[in-house]
Amino acid sequence: MNKVVLAATILAAIFSSGNAESKLQKGKEIFDMACSGCHGKNGTGIEQGGFNVQPRDLTKTILNEEQIYQVVKKGAFHWGAVTTGMPAWENVYDDTSLKAIAHYIYNTFAKESGKKLENYHYDSSKLSSKALKRGKKIYFRNCAYCHGEEGKGNGVATYNPEKSIFPYDLTKILLTEKQIFLFAKYGGKHWGSKRDDMPGWGVKYDDKTLMGVARYVEEKIKKRK
Ligand code: HEC
Ligand code: HEC
Repeated sequence: MNKVVLAATILAAIFSSGNAESKLQKGKEIFDMACSGCHGKNGTGIEQGGFNVQPRDLTKTILNEEQIYQVVKKGAFHWGAVTTGMPAWENVYDDTSLKAIAHYIYNTFAKESGKKLENYHYDSSKLSSKALKRGKKIYFRNCAYCHGEEGKGNGVATYNPEKSIFPYDLTKILLTEKQIFLFAKYGGKHWGSKRDDMPGWGVKYDDKTLMGVARYVEEKIKKRK
């Protein structure tokens, strides 16, 4: 490398690390101002009076950086939540700001959960047709009473007089097949929900069975690919 190229490379490195720093800083500033009242400055969530579904603990989120950006931009309802506690921010902040917030959350609070997601080896390429058939059966037996037969979040359990169960509308979710599997395996609380309605099915079913369920949700229920 000649000296000019070397100097330029060093300058570029300094410049881009400065940029990354200011992106984090910018994300933090907005988060502290706009989000910490509900999610807490450390991301773990602060209880809100009158909310049926409490702000999530973002240190446990299953979402990756791009998905966090999407949820912040459009609000959780757009992506399948059945309550509107988590607002859309696209009319408040520009795209650069929204990306900075997502960057901040993913690289600070969600660092551990992000690693857990990335490092989990998920290989459903050899699922047999039997496992897929079984996945459908398990969905109807164990998921439909909350999420509904078509996945719209309106299963019979939601007809209770207290209206106290709030399953996601699975036709609208952002999650990948792998994330659907992991959410179903470990349950909602594990991934930051303050409620304990969405059970972890890993205690009842083995991975292959749950992969079949995840494939069923991915292929037959989820509408957004
Ligand atoms: C008025 C309270 C409130 C404010 C303000 C708020 N949130 Fe939320 N947030 C919620 C609630 C409630 C949920 C759970 C939604 C659900 O699952 O029904 C949530 C969910 C989320 C999720 C999804 C997490 C997951 O694992 O699915 C993200 C990401 C998030 N909020 C980020 C933000 C950011 C960033 C801001 C600020 C720009 C913000 N929130 C401001 C209440 C709030
Ligand atoms: C008792 C009701 C109930 C049952 C049964 C249930 N869920 Fe859920 N599910 C929920 C609730 C409530 C949520 C929202 C998160 C939370 O509050 O924990 C949820 C969230 C989810 C999500 C996350 C969606 C997102 O984008 O964040 C997935 C995926 C999911 N459920 C899949 C399943 C599958 C697959 C089954 C069956 C094996 C199942 N659920 C059974 C209530 C239920």
